[in-house]
Amino acid sequence: MTGVLVTGGTGKTGTVLVELLRGSGVPVRVATRHPSAGDPDAIRFDWDDPATHTAALRGADRVYLVPPPHAVDPLPLVGPFLAEAHRLGVRRVVLLGSAIELPDAPGPLELAAHVRARPGWVVLRASGFMQNFLSPHPVGDRIRRHGEIRTAGGTGRVGWIDARDIAAAAAALLTDPDGHRRNQRDYLLTGPKALSYEDAAAILTTETGRPVRVEHVGVDDMARTYRATGMPAALADALAAVDAGLAAGREDRVSTAVLDLTGRPPRTFAEFVREHAAEWTNPSQAD
Ligand SMILES: NC(=O)c1ccc[n+]([C@@H]2O[C@H](COP(=O)([O-])OP(=O)(O)OC[C@H]3O[C@@H](n4cnc5c(N)ncnc54)[C@H](OP(=O)(O)O)[C@@H]3O)[C@@H](O)[C@H]2O)c1
Repeated sequence: MTGVLVTGGTGKTGTVLVELLRGSGVPVRVATRHPSAGDPDAIRFDWDDPATHTAALRGADRVYLVPPPHAVDPLPLVGPFLAEAHRLGVRRVVLLGSAIELPDAPGPLELAAHVRARPGWVVLRASGFMQNFLSPHPVGDRIRRHGEIRTAGGTGRVGWIDARDIAAAAAALLTDPDGHRRNQRDYLLTGPKALSYEDAAAILTTETGRPVRVEHVGVDDMARTYRATGMPAALADALAAVDAGLAAGREDRVSTAVLDLTGRPPRTFAEFVREHAAEWTNPSQAD
């Protein structure tokens, strides 16, 4: 097949990307650990089972790459996969990377450098997802349960992006008939406007009618909050430390990449909230 292997094909960006590619008539292969019998395009793929990698890649000439979510250092698993992709003639890899760098975790940056090194292979550096404000993400869970956002990020702003706009940007890059037409190897993807948690809470309150407040805490308290959700301690500490960078203004940036790639402006946070308004209902009121 000439077509696209979509890793993370059942996730927030992958699901939408699969729909967009199918809509454009592009053959897709949906990589998942649990392929459903009803989807002829689904293929079993597990980062932890390298025996599944070659079969998933065979015949695909493009790959959407969502790294293994559990790996702080993804290269040991993804490096051999990419070497195999190159050997099999994959001409385009679009990596879902992050604009936000975890402190003391060089692995994702090394993976991005690895991808950028090949002509036609590109990196998306996505800003914070608007979908983090939805359950089951810990931020979204807390809003739904307690009407509260807890942060050590102060008034720092983030260029929140709707995951669907990431998928649209990836689709544009994966359907570009000539991978060499665009020389750019790295795209910062953001929404249209950087917003603090206070700004986001105000929009949630206005659009849903449910008051959402912000509780400002220190980095240590934030790490404890993440750990209490069951998150591994190292990840909880790293995410809390990200808040410190946010407070220092490190994520306060927006780009025009979504518009440039797709021809459409990225969705605003208010649009996102209106579309999902029912999902912030207090669970005790919903029962
Ligand atoms: N949240 C943010 O603010 C943010 C910002 C920037 C970048 N990111 C990046 O976005 C990525 C998450 O992307 P997403 O939101 O599209 O995904 P997602 O909704 O979190 O879904 C995760 C995907 O990974 C797959 N997966 C999990 N474990 C796997 C394994 N062992 N082998 C193969 N596949 C596996 C899952 O597929 P199955 O369960 O079907 O196997 C699922 O499709 C992460 O890499 C994160 O760093 C997130």
